[in-house]
Amino acid sequence: MEIEFHEGISEVVATTRNDQPNAAPVGIINRDFLYTLLYKESHTFLNVKKNLELVANFVLDPLLYVQTAFEDLDSSFFRSDESAPVLKAAYAWVEFKCLILEKPTQKSALVKLLPVRSVVLQRPIVSINRAFCAILEATIDATRYVALKDPKYLERAAHYETVVRKCGGKRELEAFQLLKGYFV
Ligand SMILES: Cc1cc2nc3c(=O)[nH]c(=O)nc-3n(C[C@H](O)[C@H](O)[C@H](O)COP(=O)(O)O)c2cc1C
Repeated sequence: MEIEFHEGISEVVATTRNDQPNAAPVGIINRDFLYTLLYKESHTFLNVKKNLELVANFVLDPLLYVQTAFEDLDSSFFRSDESAPVLKAAYAWVEFKCLILEKPTQKSALVKLLPVRSVVLQRPIVSINRAFCAILEATIDATRYVALKDPKYLERAAHYETVVRKCGGKRELEAFQLLKGYFV
């Protein structure tokens, strides 16, 4: 495969479909084999269960991680020239066939990912940016805060905001602004 997944966990925006395409950030785990752990209540998992298909979109826009973690994207965000659901914002993507390993007592299911096709449109040379990483961390915390209301997530948000303000650009600031609405 032309695309390599980092050993450990790579954050992507996963797209799946039912009647409508769906997008949500998920971690692709590379430890001996490729898999993801999906909350069984998520639309992503329910769609995978139905179609055994998931696309990992490589996306660099921080705002999209925030939007897709909490909101549904309308169909204008998806490519119309692909049979699989693919984001217009993706500069590369991998289509996977899925094999579900589900234990009834657990909240998440292990979904084994078998690459079918990978596409690279362009290879942006992107420098490492702490604000982008801070947005990812803060977005994960925000999804947990919404679910659990544990104040520790609120406390950490202040640190991520400092990093975003110091190291980010307009898009990271916009993403954090949107995120703040979920920390209430
Ligand atoms: C960076 C990031 C990584 C995430 N990784 C996962 C994951 O691996 N598995 C999962 O079930 N949810 C993960 N989430 C949370 C889901 O994106 C979130 O629950 C989302 O609302 C699910 O949307 P859906 O119901 O449309 O599938 C992650 C969130 C973020 C911000």
